[in-house]
Amino acid sequence: MSQDQDPIALAADAARELARLTGVERHDIALTLGSGWGGAADVIGETIAEIPAEQVPGFHASGVAGHSGTLRSIRLENGTHALIIGARTHFYEGRGVRATVHGVRTAAAAGAKIMVLTNGAGGVDPAFKAGEAVLISDHLNLTATSPIEGANFVDLTDLYASRLRDVARSVEPSLQEGVYVQLPGPHYETPAEIHYLRTIGGQIVGMSTTLEAIAAREAGMEILGLSLITNPAAGMGEDPLNHEEVLEAGRAAAPRLADLLRRVVAAL
Ligand code: HPA
Repeated sequence: MSQDQDPIALAADAARELARLTGVERHDIALTLGSGWGGAADVIGETIAEIPAEQVPGFHASGVAGHSGTLRSIRLENGTHALIIGARTHFYEGRGVRATVHGVRTAAAAGAKIMVLTNGAGGVDPAFKAGEAVLISDHLNLTATSPIEGANFVDLTDLYASRLRDVARSVEPSLQEGVYVQLPGPHYETPAEIHYLRTIGGQIVGMSTTLEAIAAREAGMEILGLSLITNPAAGMGEDPLNHEEVLEAGRAAAPRLADLLRRVVAAL
């Protein structure tokens, strides 16, 4: 697929191929499952089809340990269909912003009206403890880029829909919420950077989600964001950070997160 191809047209191609491969004409809701959240794919409904990402235009096999590389079609109990984008392309993989948000645009082209973005993230606000799930209330996009091209001045007010946050809290009243900061990565932050993020209002830090949320808003979707706190951010805890620790926190929290997401999705 050409790099020069219009990204919206590429997403439309991908959605057509996805419909052909899964036999599902329309996906009503889409989810991207980050570190710790993957188990939800097994419990939110009945899997209709699971497609290796590279069979769908514009997708690549995932380059990150612990991240699966498939697109999965799931029938929910109410008869609607969810698309699980297991093949998340992170901005730090260097394929560019278009590739980073291709999954979201494909979901929109496949008919999804709600985009659920999940991730594993560092806790910047000491109120958030490792192992906890936190609703994203808003974001700081510190990647210095945007998925939107051209003079398209998209409004980002209530980006993480308060309506959907209310639904999530109605099934899990203990959910707290916080402002997510995306940095480009792939290195973790310095303690000085975390101090800075705290000062400017950041509460959770990670390497995904904000560019996807912007693309989802551009496409007219409603967005729900959820972070698993996998570790205290740099300088906030005792230990140095490493990817294995993040994955381990995800594994430990997985059954709880899967159940939470199952209940939230059923209520959306
Ligand atoms: N920083 C950035 N990204 C992350 C972190 C972190 O501390 N934990 C998990 N993803």
